[in-house]
Amino acid sequence: MDAAADGAGTAFFVTTPIYYVNDAPHIGHAYTTVAADVLARWHRARGERVHFLTGTDEHGQKILRAAQAHGTSPQAWVDRLVDSDWLPMLAAIDASHDDFIRTTEDRHVRGVGAFWSKLHAAGDVYAGEYTGLYCVACEDFKTPGELLEGTLCAVHRRPVEPVAERNWFFRLSAYAEPLLAHYAANPDFVGPESARNEVVSFVAGGLADISMSRSSFDWGIPVPWDPTQVIYVWLDALLNYVTAAGWAEDPERFALLWPADVHLVGKDILRFHAVIWPAMLMAAGLPLPRRVFANGWLLVGGEKMGKTNATGVAPAVVIEHVGSDALRYYFLREIAFGADGSFSWESLTARYTSELADDFGNLASRVTSMVERYRGGVLPGPGDLGPPETELAGVLERAAGAADAAIDRLDFQGALAEAMSFVRAANVYVTVQAPWVLARDPALAGRLDAVLATAADALRAAAVLLSPVLPRACASLWEQLGADTALGSLTDQRMGAVAPLGQLPAGVRVRKGDLLFPRLDQESAPDFGASPVAPGGAG
Ligand code: MSP
Repeated sequence: MDAAADGAGTAFFVTTPIYYVNDAPHIGHAYTTVAADVLARWHRARGERVHFLTGTDEHGQKILRAAQAHGTSPQAWVDRLVDSDWLPMLAAIDASHDDFIRTTEDRHVRGVGAFWSKLHAAGDVYAGEYTGLYCVACEDFKTPGELLEGTLCAVHRRPVEPVAERNWFFRLSAYAEPLLAHYAANPDFVGPESARNEVVSFVAGGLADISMSRSSFDWGIPVPWDPTQVIYVWLDALLNYVTAAGWAEDPERFALLWPADVHLVGKDILRFHAVIWPAMLMAAGLPLPRRVFANGWLLVGGEKMGKTNATGVAPAVVIEHVGSDALRYYFLREIAFGADGSFSWESLTARYTSELADDFGNLASRVTSMVERYRGGVLPGPGDLGPPETELAGVLERAAGAADAAIDRLDFQGALAEAMSFVRAANVYVTVQAPWVLARDPALAGRLDAVLATAADALRAAAVLLSPVLPRACASLWEQLGADTALGSLTDQRMGAVAPLGQLPAGVRVRKGDLLFPRLDQESAPDFGASPVAPGGAG
């Protein structure tokens, strides 16, 4: 649902970077998108209006060269890749975005022209001469000190190219002091802390003006007052966050959405988002986003997984073997958000088996099958509740509160650890209460009722807590619990009301369904190192 569609107020607005469509997506792109999706789903589950934006970055030399290498026009190339790879990737990972922006869309092209015309008129843009070294893969200039062996980009290990052009400059240098003041007054503006420190010391070293246009090729948005030039791809792309929000075209939508609550970005593009972007917004007199948070890199063999060095793993390869829920879970549970992390089939299999299949899946199957076996699939009333039920209720209350607080820190790993600690406590509860023993003695029927009702309601709570990360498994569990008819749809449940226990009413029909996380077929485990992405194929 588009939160912007229904009137005034403010929405929780979360964005991903817009991805270059020079090639097919890999799991590094899926990683940032899943994090944004979980945030969007969690905030929806708090009852907030949410707007989740993602999209594609389609201009610039990198795209132009990819199109040329494939003997096609850049527009035809991006149209094809968006349809064949990028939109299918979003569907495959169950992204729940409210808007998808492409920088070749009219709404964006118009907004970018209007934005730079405004800054030109205000004197923040001037004509100048540029000579420097450029990395096309980064679409960024490099200083000699940033190069490896004097000639190679440190991110892509490819030669940089000398550029000498007459073009237009943005007066970035004027914003160093205002930016430093903003970082000081808003300690949460850049995260995690290591990223914040890096940005502050970079800006404290002084800022040079940056060139904002290109004249040597024409795949971009024309500079409105000088059609011989196109706008530099980054200074076009960053504006997607406001053009998609209706800046200069739909004031009501813009007031609802802007400023963004959080821009999630990879650490490789932190400076663009935490230095150049806020300076552009200051120049235009627009409010700054509340937060820019940098995730680390997924590494392969100790290096950034990427399209350029052909180490990318297609999300579809992972999903085919473990499903989209497990892909979503694994990255957020395995890697502290903000830090780098290595990806391996072994660690994915281990998490899947011990946490998803053995802890969560097993709790669901043993509890639903016991309600079927001992109570004919009809959930009993609360029965004779006692201290073990009070204790489990306490675990839920603490875990739910701690998980919710972790999400505000963007600590997805911590939130999942809390939710899973409750699942484990529920498993221990079932094992210790041993309903199979209670079932042998008719005098203990009241205790058996209490244990079955409590365990089933623990599943209800787990389904709500885990649904932002595991939407498919939790929807299936919700149905198995008969919760739809009794409590409404899973997406209508509120995080703040997940505790206390005892919400699933007596009489609902509980039915053991398919295993939430079936055992993995180890034989057919893919060799991730040998499955680079290919456009139009596995993406
Ligand atoms: N088009 C620019 C962003 C413009 S935003 C206004 C761009 N695109 S990109 O496709 O190269 O990468 C975008 C993002 O993908 C990274 O910042 C990061 O969020 C994600 N990742 C790409 N490779 C990744 C890893 N190996 N690991 C983690 N995230 C990765 O830069």
